[in-house]
Amino acid sequence: MRIDIITVLPELLESPFSHSMMKRAKDRGLLEIVTHNLRDHTPYKQGQVDDYQFGGGAGMVMMPEPLAILIDKLQTERKYDEVIYMTPDGPLFDQKTANTLSLKENIIIICGHYKGIDDRIRQHYVTKEISIGDYVLSGGELAAAVVVDAVGRLLPGVLNDETSALFDSFQDDLLAPPVYTRPADFRGWTIPEVLLCGDPKKIDAWRHEQSIQRTKERRPGLLNDE
Ligand code: ADE
Repeated sequence: MRIDIITVLPELLESPFSHSMMKRAKDRGLLEIVTHNLRDHTPYKQGQVDDYQFGGGAGMVMMPEPLAILIDKLQTERKYDEVIYMTPDGPLFDQKTANTLSLKENIIIICGHYKGIDDRIRQHYVTKEISIGDYVLSGGELAAAVVVDAVGRLLPGVLNDETSALFDSFQDDLLAPPVYTRPADFRGWTIPEVLLCGDPKKIDAWRHEQSIQRTKERRPGLLNDE
């Protein structure tokens, strides 16, 4: 899978993809992440990529031309399955969206800044919008890093134990059950006895029941498909 990220702050995206799972995904050739500094593609002087908004009002808007020039260039080089715009007014990101995106081959992600991007780019280029939550970040980069991480770890061969993503929270609309490791008795706090019984069926049943319990308590909306 290849992900092209359009940004005015490429430095912000260096660290998130240089460690742990994303590093492994890149090292194994399963995920290619290419960041593009929008300022390198603007026809305006001094790397200008934003301007005042028509109609007045505080805050700058990212101009359409630099974005169109860069997206056109990328689209002549390969076919993209999605052109995604990270924006707080988009549909909320969830595990289902991550699963769907993990099946794509080439994706462009646009990171907005200031007041956002000129709406004509949203109308004519963007095929999917994503918000990572009901709060406003100062730019789309950290949101893009969240999406790339959630998608990248799902690519076959990234997780060592391939089945483990199947048991993540949300994969079946349930939260994950509690987990424990050694020692079995820590300060007198013991682990549930069933985990030591050695019967995988019993353990699976206990985990499933715990998942349902947790979901009921913490996120009942997931059970009602909200
Ligand atoms: N850009 C700014 N805030 C954002 C959010 N919550 N989700 C996605 N992109 C954003």
